[in-house]
Amino acid sequence: MPKTYNIAVIPGDGTGPEVVTEGIKVLNAISGKSGFKLSFKYFDFGGERYLKTGEVLPDNATDELRQYDAIYLGAIGHPDVKPGILEKGILLRLRFELDQYINLRPVKLYPGIDCPLKDKGPEHIDFVVVRENTEGLYAGSGGFLKKGTEDEVAIQESINTRKGVERCIRYAFKYCKKRNKNKKLTLCGKTNVLTYAFDLWERTFNEIAKEYPDITSDYAHVDAITMWFIKNPEWFDVIVTDNMFGDIITDLGAMIQGGMGIAAGGNINPEGVSMFEPIGGSAPKYKGKNMINPLAAICAAGLMLEHLGEEQAGKEVEEAVMKVTASHIQSLAAGKMGMTTTEVGDLVAKYVT
Ligand code: IPM
Ligand code: MN
Repeated sequence: MPKTYNIAVIPGDGTGPEVVTEGIKVLNAISGKSGFKLSFKYFDFGGERYLKTGEVLPDNATDELRQYDAIYLGAIGHPDVKPGILEKGILLRLRFELDQYINLRPVKLYPGIDCPLKDKGPEHIDFVVVRENTEGLYAGSGGFLKKGTEDEVAIQESINTRKGVERCIRYAFKYCKKRNKNKKLTLCGKTNVLTYAFDLWERTFNEIAKEYPDITSDYAHVDAITMWFIKNPEWFDVIVTDNMFGDIITDLGAMIQGGMGIAAGGNINPEGVSMFEPIGGSAPKYKGKNMINPLAAICAAGLMLEHLGEEQAGKEVEEAVMKVTASHIQSLAAGKMGMTTTEVGDLVAKYVT
């Protein structure tokens, strides 16, 4: 009996459904020959549902999603819904409630892709950011005092627990070891100013580093890291950082790997159910035009396979994407690919079979 993976699919808003369709096309193509099966169950969470029903996420959603082997997400964000409602109510809520405490974001420049950095090629840009995904400034701790008056106070606290920091750093060391590339883990922080939060991060990092003598441990301030992503991206192998810094530096990372059309990530609970998504948003202006680039969603599907233990299949998806970037697609930008969304998906699907 072939193994069957049950996947919960949340196509979401804007171009989410279009890119998810292409990802599933590729998943179906590769599962056929790889000796496993995939079964998909669709969930309609997103802006349309919220506008119709007033409900962002049903209360039993996380319990139901917990029953699946993985979640495949398109995009969340709707032009008719105030920013924050869907992002917080769906994306962040799922990350938190499913305790997906790692946000894994590979930054890799594939062949044939125009890199905005002068004199940098695929040999220089290949690193992974391990972003803490449940704490820090995202924890939602804080409040207003005297809101709307001239004495107003707004407080937003960064929550860093020993347990949360430690499990993230442990994951990063383990991942770096398994990746087996330059065996270098960089802690990205701000120890010169955030003297409480990053004191905890640094102490924990140095303690755990002792358990990994074969991994070079390294530290960089977050502001400096943004310089080095541009100047010397080849210095990095694996980077571990908190939620907010990770959010910021991975957008920069996405740009040096060719933009949001290609950047994918996984929200990972190593002991539970994980969720894979293209990093870019719902791009409502391209909705329904067959113009959006599905490669990021296809790469997210590849990460999902790898996470499910189908590492060979995951690798083949990435290799097929690389063939498309090297020889077919003109640009990664929506509407400038020289092909439609559907054609890109067809091509990757052809290469994996
Ligand atoms: C991301 C996004 C989200 C984040 C938003 C949409 C809440 O920017 O996945 O990086 O800040 O984490
Ligand atoms: Mn972001």
